[in-house]
Amino acid sequence: MCGIVGYAGGRDVIPVLLGGLSKLEYRGYDSAGVAVVCEGGLIVRKTKGRLDGLRRLVEDCSVADTAGIGHTRWATHGEPSFENSHPHTNCAGDIAVVHNGIIENYLKLKDWLRSEGAVFVSDTDTEVVAHLINYHYRGDLLEAVSKTLPRLEGSYALGVVSSKHPGLIIAARKDSPLVIGAGSGENLIASDIPALLEYTRDVYFLRDGDVAALTRDEIAIYDSYGARARREAYHVDWDVSQAERGGFEHFMIKEIHEEPKAMADTFSPRYRDGHIDISETGIDERLVANIKKINIIACGTAYHAGMVGKYVIEELARIPVEVEVASEFRYRRPIIEPGQLVLIISQSGETADTLAAMREAKQKGAKIAAIVNVVGSSISREADAVFYTHAGPEIAVASTKAYNTQLMAIYMIAVEIARMAGRLEPGAYERLASGLSGLPDLIKKVLETKNVIQRLASGYFSKNSVFFIGRGLDYVLSMEASLKLKEISYIHSEAYAAGELKHGTIALIEKGTLVVAIATQERLLEKTASNIKEVKARGAHVLAVCFEGNKMLENLADEVIYLPKTDDIFAPILAVTPMQLFAYYMAVEKGCDVDKPRNLAKSVTVE
Ligand code: F6R
Repeated sequence: MCGIVGYAGGRDVIPVLLGGLSKLEYRGYDSAGVAVVCEGGLIVRKTKGRLDGLRRLVEDCSVADTAGIGHTRWATHGEPSFENSHPHTNCAGDIAVVHNGIIENYLKLKDWLRSEGAVFVSDTDTEVVAHLINYHYRGDLLEAVSKTLPRLEGSYALGVVSSKHPGLIIAARKDSPLVIGAGSGENLIASDIPALLEYTRDVYFLRDGDVAALTRDEIAIYDSYGARARREAYHVDWDVSQAERGGFEHFMIKEIHEEPKAMADTFSPRYRDGHIDISETGIDERLVANIKKINIIACGTAYHAGMVGKYVIEELARIPVEVEVASEFRYRRPIIEPGQLVLIISQSGETADTLAAMREAKQKGAKIAAIVNVVGSSISREADAVFYTHAGPEIAVASTKAYNTQLMAIYMIAVEIARMAGRLEPGAYERLASGLSGLPDLIKKVLETKNVIQRLASGYFSKNSVFFIGRGLDYVLSMEASLKLKEISYIHSEAYAAGELKHGTIALIEKGTLVVAIATQERLLEKTASNIKEVKARGAHVLAVCFEGNKMLENLADEVIYLPKTDDIFAPILAVTPMQLFAYYMAVEKGCDVDKPRNLAKSVTVE
């Protein structure tokens, strides 16, 4: 999604803006631009395409001691083009705006503004904001923006500068993320923390409806009623190097290698003397008392983590769990009883559909527990209980370490809910807790087999279709394995419950079709083996994923990826890493842009 950067301070502004935008490239974009206040007015430079193009356009500009805003655009309204790139300006060209989100009533506003004399040059929804601010402008930019906001329906994070107010940035947000960085003699805004880290670690997250006025020496935040507001300051404790590639070819492979540490960071602070303690998250006896059902809501990879949660919570706690993608939940008049527990899962904590579904559930009286990675994000602020995964920044669009840590969190929650509900057999708690504590080291072992996976990928990357099959937890994992492959390698793939293949999809299996069969669940092995035989009989090439020592699979499959042995219930955590590596190496072999796959964005802040 779009990235916003703004700077007010003494430095040469354009390099600061470009540097910040480069840290937001991971969000996905198709055009870029900057607007900087200078003595003669506003310098606005923008272009379709990557930041390198913009860099060339601003080579001749150097302006210090002022304010500027920058933007990377992910097209929603209007194709990627010069005209549609941000910043957008009013007719006089003295007010510039960058925006992330969607102004839903822009057509109505556009008609009305036209009747007031505004001339539009783009197809975007954003341009109306520049003209509306101009309409309300009576010498005070903050006032003009504040009068504009109530007229906007939809979502926005905004950065505004004007040549009539050198050194001033007005920022505002509703349902789109925006962070303020508080520096010394300089202040900044950005869509995400990595863009600020070179200048400060002290940040404020704006709340919905907030407007802020930033100069080099002051940050003034106002709530939606116009009253001066105090917002909690967060000190970012992760290092800028964590948001850099650090010698790896891509962020994705770096982040896969960070999984053991990330999982330990999720688990270890909440594990003492053989006991799991998640009370600090707010998920405690009071929250889970008398729950009869749990709803899990999420999108994409986080939804797949939720599917694992269903299997594990139902298995351990014997409480029914319904899992739903957020975009369906929010529009289906869901039945939620007051007091019911709803578990939200989101890496970014800003996904528009997930946030809206959470609000819907909350409004119906549900108690909300959230598993979130980004501290201070909207979901984390609005949930009743928050389990932070502490995975560190995830920059690659394809989620990897965040997923592993979401699973760690879900297993810990499942074990705790089962314990509180008195549903665990004697000795089960200790076995599960110690099993979880050993997982980061087992992932290290899995990573040692990456060369095997790379070799396999080099033989398979020209396939144009791949099937992932499994039963039970293996089926749920197949869904994530399939999504990962699709999104970064653009190879069509399907995840199928192995027993369901024969009800239609097996028609697609022909000589040479690659079928990845995940078979970790002992009690389902014979059944999965039969399904493997069915596809082999139709000419499929089978790559099996199973625990080491599984002779049956070794004899059946053409190739095998082995996992170090652990309790079957933990298999989805161990098996996902080879599947992420598989997708990664397939995409690299195909020459794909692994970290920035086409059409995708990291934090999906529009519906
Ligand atoms: C896939 C991926 C997406 C996200 C989804 C939800 O690799 O990253 O499917 O999982 O957009 O994002 P969050 O977890 O930020 O709510």
